[in-house]
Amino acid sequence: MRPHRALNTLAGIAGVAILLTLAGCGKSPSASSAPAGSEGAAGGGDTHAPLVVGFSQIGAESDWRRANTDSIQSEAKKRGIDLRFSDAQQKKENQIKAIRSFIAQGVDVISFSPVVETGFEQVLEEAKKAGIPVVLSDRAVDVSDPTLYKCFIGSDFVEEGRRAAQWFIDHTEGDVKVAELVGTPGSAPALDRAEGFREAIKDVPRIQIVWSQSGNFTRTEGKKAFQAFLKSPEAKGVGALYAHNDDMAIGAIQAIKEAGLKPGVDIKIVSIDAVKEAFKAMIAGELNCTVECNPLIGPQLFDLIEKVARGEEIPHRVKVDEEVFTQDVAADLIDSRQY
Ligand code: AHR
Repeated sequence: MRPHRALNTLAGIAGVAILLTLAGCGKSPSASSAPAGSEGAAGGGDTHAPLVVGFSQIGAESDWRRANTDSIQSEAKKRGIDLRFSDAQQKKENQIKAIRSFIAQGVDVISFSPVVETGFEQVLEEAKKAGIPVVLSDRAVDVSDPTLYKCFIGSDFVEEGRRAAQWFIDHTEGDVKVAELVGTPGSAPALDRAEGFREAIKDVPRIQIVWSQSGNFTRTEGKKAFQAFLKSPEAKGVGALYAHNDDMAIGAIQAIKEAGLKPGVDIKIVSIDAVKEAFKAMIAGELNCTVECNPLIGPQLFDLIEKVARGEEIPHRVKVDEEVFTQDVAADLIDSRQY
């Protein structure tokens, strides 16, 4: 069971975006060990004891990820937080090593974006034993004990998948064969975006996924996978592409053009993230729709981290508000996009 799914369901039933659970609302163990007067360190003001935060980032696989890193690093700098930042280069093993190193350094709070959902239970137990609260950023973990982390802030990836499917439901007619470029296997966004899309089309039999392969959330791998697909017999009759992120869609657009086809016309394309490059592709008529996934969560993340370090109650789940963008609004909005 992936516990955050249960939380999502509950949140849906309650009709609220923010879900408080008892598990995440306790006094942070690190708060009791914070030096006297460190209220200011967590909230600004104590120059002697800056809050120390260990952050393990997935990597730099996409425009989205680079914007997310910028948002986190610049916000930490603004608040005078001592950020120990580690790039895992898309490897779970590197994240586990980084988290163990943060524990050994005795940081005040650990935060990370898990590259995949599983395999973090033990290291999270180690952090808990050491009394260091953990705040998950962007992606969830699959653990049996939800108290292993204090809060998960990030998008509703299942909803993003539903929204992508909705575009095809609303803007196509007749039978539609969909190719799907999947994100990193085992990652929360890949699992959830696949789930949300399938859920939305389950009662629309004219829309069928006929091919599904990973492009690992990168432009290069997205292009390579789609190039091979276009040469295969499975490509016959395929008129739609659902890419789990914009980078893979942009790679696929190159492959489609090189194959002599028109992206956005011969193959309708919907992807996720809403990066600037996606807006450019929509203006060029090569991408039909992008579903927003907002990476600029640094301010919200550090609000939560500072609160948990002060021993304040924080929600166990915080969702980020997002929109859907289509070709007709792309030119008007491109200059206002920050990533
Ligand atoms: O976890 C968010 C996803 O990770 C973004 O959609 C993707 O671009 C990134 O690499």
